[in-house]
Amino acid sequence: MAYSDVYAGWKADPEGFWMTQAEAIDWVKKPSRALFADNAPLYEWFKDGMVNTCWNAVDRHVLAGRGDQLAIIHDSPVTHSTRGITYAELQKRVASLAGALRAKGIEKGDRVIIYMPMVPEALEAMLACARLGAIHSVVFGGFAAAELAVRIDDAKPKAIIAASCGIEPGRVVHYKPLLDGAIEMATHKPDFTVIFQREQEVAKLIEGRDFAWHTFQYGVEPAECVPVEGDHPAYILYTSGTTGQPKGVVRPTAGHLVALHWTMKNIYGVEPGEVFWAASDVGWVVGHSYICYAPLIHGNTTIVFEGKPVGTPDAGTFWRVIQNHKVTSFFTAPTAFRAIKREDPTGALIGEYNLRSLKALYLAGERADPDTIKWAQAMLNVPVIDHWWQTETGWPMAANPLGIEKLPVKIGSPSVAMPGYDIQALDEGGHPQPAGQLGAIVVKLPLPPGTLPTLWNAPERFQKSYLDHFPGYYETGDAGYIDEDGYVYIMARTDDVINVAGHRLSTGAMEEILASHPDVAECAVIGVADELKGQLPLGFLCLNKGCNRDHAEIVKEVVKLVRDKIGPVAAFKLAVVVNRLPKTRSGKILRATMVKIADSQPFKTPATIDDPAILDEIRVALQTIGFAKA
Ligand code: COA
Ligand code: AMP
Repeated sequence: MAYSDVYAGWKADPEGFWMTQAEAIDWVKKPSRALFADNAPLYEWFKDGMVNTCWNAVDRHVLAGRGDQLAIIHDSPVTHSTRGITYAELQKRVASLAGALRAKGIEKGDRVIIYMPMVPEALEAMLACARLGAIHSVVFGGFAAAELAVRIDDAKPKAIIAASCGIEPGRVVHYKPLLDGAIEMATHKPDFTVIFQREQEVAKLIEGRDFAWHTFQYGVEPAECVPVEGDHPAYILYTSGTTGQPKGVVRPTAGHLVALHWTMKNIYGVEPGEVFWAASDVGWVVGHSYICYAPLIHGNTTIVFEGKPVGTPDAGTFWRVIQNHKVTSFFTAPTAFRAIKREDPTGALIGEYNLRSLKALYLAGERADPDTIKWAQAMLNVPVIDHWWQTETGWPMAANPLGIEKLPVKIGSPSVAMPGYDIQALDEGGHPQPAGQLGAIVVKLPLPPGTLPTLWNAPERFQKSYLDHFPGYYETGDAGYIDEDGYVYIMARTDDVINVAGHRLSTGAMEEILASHPDVAECAVIGVADELKGQLPLGFLCLNKGCNRDHAEIVKEVVKLVRDKIGPVAAFKLAVVVNRLPKTRSGKILRATMVKIADSQPFKTPATIDDPAILDEIRVALQTIGFAKA
């Protein structure tokens, strides 16, 4: 069947389409229908079904004879080790961990925070929660204690599962002191923690509160899968919004199962049994959907890769992993390819490996720049598929669905809308833009199964952030256009979110931290273009009257403050002191103009500007740190 037929089939009968896809899932009780619109514009899918995610990701494959197939391969160049876990082993390990959690009081609906590096135990912790119907919230290891504390206070977990340490090239990340600090800072206190001790660093446990991963499981009864309602939250994943308070994206259980299963064959073109690799981190949505859940739900082997595209030990690491584990379909962020290209521009290392198993490369997480796509196409000689989605949707909104039909690739576009998504570009007044005209990218409601039904603890914020601006549509926060063939082009964000090395960060959150420095009277943070990471945050600081301290010292202090408060992942290293910020007459900071100046792009002085002379001051300040080239 052609893509256009599949898409038209969905559009003609969305409920029928999703009920058919739901047949690929094992239900304890089948749903009577797909869509529940009683609370429109809030929608739910498969609400009256009963189902368990862990059963569908693990147990059913053992029952169907896949017990000896590898479910997870841990490939860790930073610890020089590789290890495989079969589906049968995974079932035992997850049932045992779930049994231990249950023995300590974890039940359906309880929240459990997971703070772990790229080890298989992170997936086992997620699956153990799913087995019990507990709601996990994974926190990325590159966040600082304060960010973890914010998530603890919002999710109010009964337990936290963490590792003793993570390993970044050249340094050990001490998870346990970060965890202790976060618990200390948070108002809510978990009942207990479970610590996976790694041999690279054994953490000190607090008697009565912290339990060691292995001893904690000693002698417990393994847990069976607990059926949950279709709309039961599978997990909460916090993502950056406009303020320092992250948004807790809720993922509903049944829609998640159905949609992710559909994507594996239809978008990623893999058959059960094949090896699928997403080189991301379990702390991000890509890690949730395509390192953990989708490959396992579909009966694939997934790779948990603990390393970097370069430097662990070289720019050939990705090719070694693809060769050694016979990866069929590979997914990463464009920034990883830019890093490799910088180290190995001629692809000399690629030639040293046999990449015959590889059928396609998928890129997402940030805009895929044409140079990177062309380089990857030339080097790998397989289709290079840019596809577009976000934490909120959990699976691709636009892609080139290789498993259905390979559509012509248009470089610069993540291709076309997937079934479930009616994507449109609207003008400020909410009218559809003609083909090729820039607008706010929105999706007509209802969103398909697996997408967020709400934000944790914040239904009003959900409504305000996503639904209010364009009634009847979900606002993605991206700007772009759709061409005459229906290809979507994503050009920029419409909010204060920036994308640094495929990581979504809030400039608003950074501004809150800069403003807390005692010498800073006013500040602004913008995202400037960077060849490797796509964007980098850059801060402007206006100091308090009378402050005559050395500017370089203050810059050093605010850089440290952001690293300590948000974490190294913010990659905040650039800041300049200026006398004033350019503003409109009504006092709005002209961030977009500052971005243009920093990136040495042409711009028009906004008609509403209060004092155009400030733009020159900004240019001069930026030139002192190598931006705003003449
Ligand atoms: N735990 C602790 N610290 C982490 C971390 C983690 N899981 N991940 C990153 N960090 C730290 C890094 O060590 C770095 O610290 P430093 O300032 O001390 O050097 C900092 O956070 C910034 O990290 P990053 O922006 O990733 O830069 P990098 O120089 O370490 O690596 C790339 C650059 C391009 C190689 C890397 O960003 C990459 O592989 N990106 C792939 C993107 C990706 O997987 N995105 C997920 C969405 S698909
Ligand atoms: P996250 O929620 O962290 O996955 O980030 C989602 C955001 O990253 C999107 O809203 C886009 O701004 C950006 N993004 C993701 N994939 C793409 C892509 N293929 N092209 C352009 N931007 C993308």
